[in-house]
Amino acid sequence: MNPTVNLSFLLQQLLILLLLPCRWKIYTRAAVGKWELLQSNIGISAMHMQLLNNGKVIIFDRTDFGPSNISLPNGKCRNDPNDTALPIDCTAHSVEYDIALNTIRPLMVLTDVWCSSGAVMSDGVLLQTGGFNDGEHAVRTYKPCNDNSCDWQEIKNGLAQRRWYATNHLLPDGRQIVIGGRRQFNYEFYPKKSSAEKAYNLPFLVQTNDPRIENNLYPFVFLNVDGNLFIFANNRAILFDYMKGVVVRTYPAVPGGDPRSYPSTGSAVLLPLKNVHGGAIGAEVLVCGGAPKGAYINAQNGNFVGALNTCGRIHITDSNPAWVMETMPQARVMGDMVILPNGDVLIINGASKGTAGWEFGRDPVLSPVIYRPDNGIGSRFEVQNPSTTPRMYHSSAILLYDGRVLVGGSNPHTYYNFTRVTFPTDLTLEAFSPSYLNPNYANMRPRIVSPVSQPTIGYGQLLVVQFTVSSMLNKNLIKVTIVAPSFTTHSFSMNQRLLVLSQNVTVLGKSTYQVRVLTPGSGNLAPRGYYLLFVVHEDIPSDGIWIQIK
Ligand SMILES: *[C@@H]1O[C@H](CO)[C@@H](O)[C@H](O)[C@H]1NC(C)=O
Ligand SMILES: *[C@@H]1O[C@H](CO)[C@@H](O)[C@H](O)[C@H]1NC(C)=O
Ligand SMILES: *[C@@H]1O[C@H](CO)[C@@H](O)[C@H](O)[C@H]1NC(C)=O
Ligand SMILES: *[C@@H]1O[C@H](CO)[C@@H](O)[C@H](O)[C@H]1NC(C)=O
Repeated sequence: MNPTVNLSFLLQQLLILLLLPCRWKIYTRAAVGKWELLQSNIGISAMHMQLLNNGKVIIFDRTDFGPSNISLPNGKCRNDPNDTALPIDCTAHSVEYDIALNTIRPLMVLTDVWCSSGAVMSDGVLLQTGGFNDGEHAVRTYKPCNDNSCDWQEIKNGLAQRRWYATNHLLPDGRQIVIGGRRQFNYEFYPKKSSAEKAYNLPFLVQTNDPRIENNLYPFVFLNVDGNLFIFANNRAILFDYMKGVVVRTYPAVPGGDPRSYPSTGSAVLLPLKNVHGGAIGAEVLVCGGAPKGAYINAQNGNFVGALNTCGRIHITDSNPAWVMETMPQARVMGDMVILPNGDVLIINGASKGTAGWEFGRDPVLSPVIYRPDNGIGSRFEVQNPSTTPRMYHSSAILLYDGRVLVGGSNPHTYYNFTRVTFPTDLTLEAFSPSYLNPNYANMRPRIVSPVSQPTIGYGQLLVVQFTVSSMLNKNLIKVTIVAPSFTTHSFSMNQRLLVLSQNVTVLGKSTYQVRVLTPGSGNLAPRGYYLLFVVHEDIPSDGIWIQIK
C-alpha cells in the first residue's frame, strides 16, 4: 500500500477524533432536523400516502372535493353521475410522486376513495379498500411500474361490507384483513377464500363504540409476534385470533380513560421488534396523543379543548401487561407516528387543540418530536425544528428509502378552500430530515454497496450485505433493520413495523465491511413482502435497499 495514502488516512482519522467532541455537541444541541419544501403544488392534498418498491409514492385524497389543481392526462375526464361534487371531472385526485426525480404524475381513480384504507400485498401491489358513496365496496389495486404506464384498477364490489374509516393489515398467509369502519362492527379478508365468504362479527367494536361520536374508527391494528392481532379502539385493546374469531386476551384500558382513535385521533406504533431470529421476542405498543373525552361535542359547540399530552406504552406479550404512561413535551391530536430506520419514533403533524373532523382542529403543533424507545423514561423525547406549514386534518407523513420523512396534506374543509379559511387546503409536499442526515455525519454513514438489485430471500436465511463507512467503524454500534412501508392516513400508519435483525460484522478492507444478517424466522414476525433494509451505524442509517421476503 502507498505509505502516503496511509499516512493521510491516519491523519484524517486523527482529525475526525479531534473533531468528535465538537460534533457531538452539534448532535446533542442541534439534533433538531431540517425541513425542505419539495413541491409547492402537487395539485391534491395528501390525505393517503404509500411508498412502493420502485421508489414512488402513491398519494390520493377524495374524488368529491370538486376540481383539484391538477388535470388528468391526455384530456381524460371521469364521468361519474354519482359523484356528489362534480359528475364530469377532468382533474386528478390521485398522483404518483417520483422521489428521485421529485416529479408528479396524475392518476385516475374511478370511484370515491375518501377515508379509505389499504396495504401493500406480498408481491408489491398496493391494495386499497373502500371509501365513500360509490367507492364504499370497491377494492382497487395499483401495480408499480417504471414506464409511467400504470394506473389504478378497480374491482367493483370486492368488499362484503362498506368500509369507510377501516384499518387494514397484511397477514402471514398473504391476504389482507380489513377491520371495522363506520357502522361496521366486523372484519373481512381480501382476497376471499371463496365468493361465499362474508364478513365476521367483532363485538369489541360494538363495545368500544359511542354511537354519538363513533370514537373507535381507524382502529390501531398490529400483527403480534404470536400471530394474533393487537386491536386498539377508543381507549382499550384486545388480542384477537382472527382465524378462530376468538378474543385471546383483553388489555386494561389506558389510564385516564380518554379515547385515542378517530375522531379523538392519537396515533400508535408497534415498537421495534428485536432479536428476531430466536428466543422469546417481546412486543411493545406505544400510543400517543389524542383528544379527551367530550372533545368532539365541545368542538361542535365552538369550544376547542386541549389535546392529550400523554403516551401509553404496553408490553403486549407480557403475561400481566400494564400501561406505563409518559408525558410528551407538547399535547397533540392528529399527530402521525413514523418509525425511523434506527428504531426511533418521529411524532409529527397535528394540533394542540380540538379534534379530528371538519374545521375542528386549532393551534397547529409545528415541531415534531423524536421518541427514543431505548432511553430511560424522562430522556426519551426530543423536540425538533418546526415547520412553517400547519398540518391539520387530512395530513400525512411516511418514511422514504433515504431516511427522510415525506410530509403532505392538510384539508379540514369539505372542498378545496384556499382563501377565507383559517387553515387553507394545502397542496405542498415537504421532507423532514432527522439530524442523522446532517452532512456532518456523512463519514459515519454506512453506504450499502451490495446487493445491488432487490434480493428475494426466505425466512431464517442468511443475507450478506456489504457496506462502506469512511470514518472509523464502531462495530458494537451497528444495527441492521428492516421496515415495512406503511399505508398512512388519518394519523395512522397501517402495516408499519420495524425489525432489528441478528447480524455479525467483519472487516473486508479499508472502510469496507460485510454484515451477515439473519432474516426473520416466520411470517408472524414479518409477513411476506417488500421491506426496506438499512445498515445503521451509531444511530445513523444508510439509504435503504429493498428486499423481498418470500
Ligand atoms: C391551479 O391553480 C392555478 C393558480 O390558481 C391556476 O392558474 C391553474 O389553472 C390551476 N390548475 C388546474 C389544473 O386547476
Ligand atoms: C350510481 O349509483 C347507482 C345507485 O347506487 C348505481 O346503480 C349506478 O350503477 C351508479 N353509477 C355509476 C356510473 O357508478
Ligand atoms: C369552500 O369551497 C366551496 C366550493 O368552492 C364553497 O362552496 C364553500 O363555501 C367554501 N367554504 C368556505 C368555508 O369558504
Ligand atoms: C453471529 O455470531 C454469533 C457468535 O459467534 C453467532 O451466535 C450468531 O449466530 C451469528 N449471527 C449471524 C447472523 O451470523
